[in-house]
Amino acid sequence: MNKNIFAENILKNKVVFVTGGGTGITGGVARALTEMGAKVSITSRKQENLESMANTIRENGGECFAVAADVRDFAAVENAINKTIEQFGKIDIVVNGAAGNFLCEAKELSSNGFGTVVDIDTKGTFNVCRAAFEELKKNQGQILNISATLHYLGTPMQIHVSAAKAGVDAITRNLAVEWGKYGIRVNGIAPGPIEDTEGMKRLLPEQLKEKLAKKIPLQRFGKINDIENAAVFLCSDAANYINGVTLVVDGGQWLSANTFM
Ligand code: COA
Repeated sequence: MNKNIFAENILKNKVVFVTGGGTGITGGVARALTEMGAKVSITSRKQENLESMANTIRENGGECFAVAADVRDFAAVENAINKTIEQFGKIDIVVNGAAGNFLCEAKELSSNGFGTVVDIDTKGTFNVCRAAFEELKKNQGQILNISATLHYLGTPMQIHVSAAKAGVDAITRNLAVEWGKYGIRVNGIAPGPIEDTEGMKRLLPEQLKEKLAKKIPLQRFGKINDIENAAVFLCSDAANYINGVTLVVDGGQWLSANTFM
């Protein structure tokens, strides 16, 4: 599908390191980038969670390397980055998609539960950016952070994720400023509710789906493909002067929260 929108091979010769690249939105992004000619290295905590996506990409004719690492563990991240460089010779783009999520009211959430999600999403994003810095500097590379819109307003049962993603957005802006001089662009994507994901299946009760979809200005939930297209655009030369932006891809959903009609 992406192939009908973008010119062929616009990411040819690029090597992309994708965390959380085994499943869901970020898995789709990893696959889509290979369809544009990139080689990808995908990572998540468990090797077995990576194999299926790695096989899909290879069957599709793409090149994929799968290496397990917990993004909370800096040494493990460094190892995964080094192994990727051994495999493909370099890294041009980092996509930070590894995330943890569950529904829990603040008054029920433990300190460790809050900290666990912040560690995965926020510290994990920092760890990967930090560990990839020299490589990205060498290649005038770029970073794409997968965020959310939850923290734009107050989203019940999501205090931990909201705080974590607000931190991710801060990292996007901060590194855009600090690392722009090295030729590194740093951007983000904030997906709204995306229907074909594990997160949506787990987090949104089935009976609320139709009602909620009608409240979205574009009258539908997003699809992983909507995020893939935004990612391909931001990773391509078409976005060469875009730096420090978190692109909201949500059909106008978060803006419509005050719409009561
Ligand atoms: N509700 C409340 N607290 C929860 C929770 C839930 N559903 N799930 C985890 N926690 C708390 C745990 O109770 C624990 O805190 P405690 O020690 O005070 O009890 C803390 O979070 C760490 O949990 P643990 O399961 O040991 O951490 P982990 O590092 O193995 O996994 C997650 C953390 C977030 C990845 C895990 O909850 C998970 O697997 N979530 C589903 C998968 C996922 O998030 N995918 C991403 C989709 S966007």
